Amino acid sequence: MKNYKNDFPFFENVSDIYFDSAATSQKPKAVLDKLKEYYTSYCANTHRGSHDLGNRATREYEEARETTREFINAQQTEEIVFTKGTTEAINLIASSFVSQRFKTLILSRLEHHSNIVPWQLNGFKEGENLFIIPMNDDLSINLKAYKELLKEHPNSFVSVTHVSNAFGIINPVRELTYLAHKYDSTILVDGAQAIAHIDVDVKELNVDFYVFSAHKMFGPTGVGVLYGKYELLNQTKPYQGGGTMIDDVSFEKTTYLNPPHRFEAGTQNIAGVIGFKEAIKYINDIGYNEIVRHDMQLIRYANSELKKIDSLRLFTDSDNICGNISFNIDGIHHNDIGVLLDKQHITLRTGHHCALPAMKYLGVDGSVRVSFTIYNTIEEIDIFIKALIRAIGMLK
Ligand code: ALA
Repeated sequence: MKNYKNDFPFFENVSDIYFDSAATSQKPKAVLDKLKEYYTSYCANTHRGSHDLGNRATREYEEARETTREFINAQQTEEIVFTKGTTEAINLIASSFVSQRFKTLILSRLEHHSNIVPWQLNGFKEGENLFIIPMNDDLSINLKAYKELLKEHPNSFVSVTHVSNAFGIINPVRELTYLAHKYDSTILVDGAQAIAHIDVDVKELNVDFYVFSAHKMFGPTGVGVLYGKYELLNQTKPYQGGGTMIDDVSFEKTTYLNPPHRFEAGTQNIAGVIGFKEAIKYINDIGYNEIVRHDMQLIRYANSELKKIDSLRLFTDSDNICGNISFNIDGIHHNDIGVLLDKQHITLRTGHHCALPAMKYLGVDGSVRVSFTIYNTIEEIDIFIKALIRAIGMLK
């Protein structure tokens, strides 16, 4: 297994084992260098002035849009909108496209709060116009029940996660999309946890909207991507008003630019977007074949080692997971495990993982989540397992 740690300056300063990439990933040197390059060589605002520096910044920014288009195989560059993250992208679609247009909304039970609360803010409520897809015992989506929901409520908006941030379950996006369209519904997929682990092709999946964050795929924080089919983005109202999203302004009336600029009001995270381009190049250089092979080796090994611990309850034994594994230890609170692992220099996330409805449904208040990516190694898992056994011994 190749060790990618040397690509990440973070590990020159921090020797802790970092198993929390599902929360945010570390950044390769190329991304950090690009941020510095922008701030030290052509720091200027984009899409405004006629000066050279501004033109260079605009060119780099728009190149990032095209790099992103190619990365997810969108049809056209104008289908890529930069937001500040997955959360903002979902809020944008909820308030500017879905509300007023759709009477019913369908969500899965494993959604992150960012794919629940924006809908509630826009008038969707369980028991009235919000329907939850039942799940199977292995936490996968019950496709039969989903189909029944769509049959009963055609013309719905469906919003589902590609990969569960709490349990790593991979949802069958192609089938979910096929069925949504069969019943005249429109679908958004939250790819925040998928994009660093799965080669996403929006054309092939045929999703209507796909959203993700740069910081979970080795890019800077504060940058997200909203992909939308152009004809749908074109029907979407502006989300925020301000500079650079307008065609003409007078006190009587304002007209707006076409997508994507209609949705990028005010000064954007220019450095972040330009740095994000390097994160995509980093992934492309390694290639998804290698990334998936590396990730799966770690997941399978960790799964098999965790299973050897008597009192440990894995939330899923499925082969259909990526990125993270969640578990609890009988009789021990997940936070106590987290604290003792932290003291042994192992960083991971404990708690409800911003997926409270899923936790409540499973009758727990949280879990220990260990998440892996390209810079993690089998040796780190061995150290983690020893540290976990030590922690359990101290707490029992
Ligand atoms: N959504 C991120 C996580 O699951 C923050 O940890």
